Order: sequence, then structure tokens, then C-alpha cells
Amino acid sequence: MKRREFVKNSALAAAGIAVFQSASSFAPTPKVRIGIIGTGLRGQSHIENILRRSDTDIVAICDVDDLMLQWTTDMIKKAGKPIPQIFKGDPHAYRKLLELKNLDAVLIATPWEWHAPMVIESLQAGIKYVATEVVLGITMEDHWNVVREAEKQKANVMMMENVCYRRDVMAVMNMARQGLFGELIHMQAGYQHDLRDVKFNNGRDPKNSPVEFGPKAFSEARWRTNHSVYRNGDLYPTHGIGPVAEMLDINHGNRFLSLSSFATKSRGLHNYIVEKGGAANPNAKVLFKLGDIVTTHIKCANGETILLQHDTNSPRPYSLGFRVQGTKGLWMDVNKSLYIEGTSKTEDEWELAQPYLDKYDHPLWQRWSKETEGAGHGGMDFFVMHAFIESVKRKVATPMDVYDAAAWSAITPLSEMSVDLGNQTVEFPDFTSGQWMYRKNEFAITDEF
Ligand SMILES: NC(=O)c1ccc[n+]([C@@H]2O[C@H](COP(=O)([O-])OP(=O)(O)OC[C@H]3O[C@@H](n4cnc5c(N)ncnc54)[C@H](O)[C@@H]3O)[C@@H](O)[C@H]2O)c1
Repeated sequence: MKRREFVKNSALAAAGIAVFQSASSFAPTPKVRIGIIGTGLRGQSHIENILRRSDTDIVAICDVDDLMLQWTTDMIKKAGKPIPQIFKGDPHAYRKLLELKNLDAVLIATPWEWHAPMVIESLQAGIKYVATEVVLGITMEDHWNVVREAEKQKANVMMMENVCYRRDVMAVMNMARQGLFGELIHMQAGYQHDLRDVKFNNGRDPKNSPVEFGPKAFSEARWRTNHSVYRNGDLYPTHGIGPVAEMLDINHGNRFLSLSSFATKSRGLHNYIVEKGGAANPNAKVLFKLGDIVTTHIKCANGETILLQHDTNSPRPYSLGFRVQGTKGLWMDVNKSLYIEGTSKTEDEWELAQPYLDKYDHPLWQRWSKETEGAGHGGMDFFVMHAFIESVKRKVATPMDVYDAAAWSAITPLSEMSVDLGNQTVEFPDFTSGQWMYRKNEFAITDEF
């Protein structure tokens, strides 16, 4: 079934609760005109992907950092494309960008604390397709405000969660949808990534001290590290929870009910400062609130549990730590293996997952793998941008919507609350106001986008 037909036929459309326009009500937009707020390292990698497309024009860019704007315009020039209108000079210059009358879509790749206000103001400016980098907002109130504004404006908000399109994850989702693991019962995932050099000076500005963070530092060290000073919870849940939520049909027949979180003591960032900058460095006095490892347990309405890890302050190899487990077997990414009862040869040994990943390669990857070459993060960045742009062109719902963005991102403030309350279980709100029971999961149901 074609995606348009699916959207038209779905219970979602029938129930009339879509916060977006139905597929049939518009002629297609031939070329998407996009404005981009935030041209830092992530914004530039999105721009690189957009420049490879012939169906999208970057008409405006905005940043407060002249160096990032310079790097961006150099990149656009090199690609032989026209230099877009530039908005700069103050933290609210993006409001001038939003006054432009020729924008079909806006993409936001700024620090976390700017996402919710920028999304809301884009919606209020009449933009019907707003993409934001992860996470959607900081507080529970942020998440509710974005959901309510998207509903009011009947507009789409897509959080650019690229890991939902990772090749192995999509193959496993394909296997899960075909029932290879039986009924899903337990999932594990997380963000397990040694970010110490990112949190301090991004490991790359030789003029600065190696343990600099805050206004004088570069890129994420300028803003991200402060969240580790003031907050204790799962600060970055979406790369892990996004794919898991798609497999469990969260907001589409299932939902998160409650969570409880536990945080270890905080050691890694302080130790790094002492090791790289010396005990006399002023930053050695900073008290970091973020526990080195934050573990969150989530209960779902259909009876599944999810174990989520946030582990960014310690030496370790990168791993999102996925485990997808059902009544008949499981897959784990850390050992690249699986076990399926009745299919795997012995009960005692893991089977290599790769032959299964090849066999169940998702139709999206089969169709578009040539286009993914050179796109960031092993190609998955192509798909997340492709999904957004194709939705704008066809004037259909984005495959990940505002309810997904809010539910996944709400894990951060809820986990902070749980840790603060001595690991108490706290309840998720239902951002869909009961519609989760009727909505159908449209994520990656065809090979189009
Ligand atoms: N999905 C992924 O794989 C991935 C990877 C990296 C970063 N990210 C996310 O992307 C976002 C940006 O991260 P980054 O690594 O590019 O950080 P960055 O610091 O390199 O870029 C942020 C940019 O926003 C600009 N900015 C700050 N305030 C602004 C304002 N008021 N108006 C306009 N511009 C403003 C900064 O000057 C900077 O250029 C974050 O949400 C981060 O979590 C996602």
C-alpha cells in the first residue's frame, strides 16, 4: 500500500484528530524552501545533506556565531548553490527569519534550551513543517506547550531522531514486525558515549584550555556541559528510546505509563578536569550534579518494560546497547548476535546477527542505500532528512510526530524528578489525550520515506 493511501485510510485520519493536513488536500510542492536556525556542527551536517538534494533550496540561515556562519556559507559556495539570506547578531535574530513569507519549512539545530521556544514561535509564524534536533524541550511544560501549539496550528513537528533509521535497527524492527522474536516483552537501549572531550572544549580548539566549558569554549562545550552541572537525569534519551518506541508502537496502540530512575555518584567530569587541566584549574572546583550513569526503567501500557542507560562521563567504547527481546528470542547489538528458539541451532550459543540483518534489510535501505553514501552517521542521516523533506513535498504527516517528540523527550524531566524524589516512580502524561488507543503506526511502512 502506498503511504498516501495508508495515511488516508488510517484510523488516525478517520478519527479526524490529525494535527496535520491529510494527503489529498494539496498539490505537491515541487521544491522545498527551508530556513535553518543553528548552523553549528549538527546544523552543518544537515546542510551538507540538503545540498546533495535537488528538491530543496536553503533560503535562509541564522546563527549567533559568525565562525559557524562562515563555515556554512563556505560549504554552500563550494556546492555551487546560492548563498541564503543570513540572520545574525542577536539571540532573537531567528524571529526575523520567521517573518519571511517564502518558507515551507524550518529546521532547528541549536542548543537544547532553544528548541521549544524556537519550535513554538515557528508554529506561531505559520510554518506548517518544523523539524528540530533532539531533544524537544527541557521541562514538562515545554513539551506540553509544543504539543498544544502544534495542535492549535494544525502543523507538523518532527524531531530529527536519526537512530530510528540505523540499518541494523531497521532490520531488527522488520524482524520484530514479522514476529521473529514472538511478542515483544523487554527492550534495552541507551546513550553510552564518552563525551568528555565534547563537554570540554570539544577537544579541538588549541587556543583554549583543554578543560574549558561555557561562553569561551567551542560548539557543544559552550552550552551542553552546563546541563551536567545543574541537572541529574537521563539528559539524552532519544537515540535509544526512539527506535524502541517505534518497535513497541508507543503512541500508536501503546504508551509509556511510568518510570523510575537511579543515578550513580558523579566522578568522571571532575576527574577529567584534574587529569587534563590539573587540580589547580578553576574548573576543578565545579560540582557536577549529573550522575555518571543514570539508569531508567519504563513500564508500558501493553506490559513491556524498557531499561534505558545514560552514560556519557566515563571512558568506554560507544554503544547504544540495544536489546530487543520477545517471547521467542532476542537480539543484542553489543555482541552483534541473536537467539531465536527453534531457529538458532543450539540453546547455549549466540548466533551472529549479520545474516539475519542482511535477509531482513528494511525496504527503505534496499531502495535508497546508494543515496546514503557519504551521509552522516553511517547513512542514517540521509533518511531522517529524506523523511522530513518528502513529507513537506507531499504535504502529509511526518513519520515521527509531535507526540513522539514529546513522549520521548519527556523522559529527561521525568527522570530528573524521579532521581530527585529518591527514585520514586513517576507517571508519564498522555500527550495524545487518549488518541494513542486509535492511532496506527506509520513509521517506515513503505520504501518511500
Ligand atoms: N542526531 C544527532 O546525531 C546529533 C548529533 C550532534 C548534535 N545533535 C543535536 O543537535 C543540536 C545542536 O548540536 P551541535 O552539536 O550542532 O551544537 P553546536 O554548539 O555546534 O551548534 C549549535 C549552534 O546553535 C547556535 N545558536 C545558539 N543559540 C542560538 C540562537 N539563539 N539563535 C541562533 N543560533 C544559535 C550556536 O552558535 C551554534 O552554532 C543539539 O540539540 C544536539 O543534541 C544531534
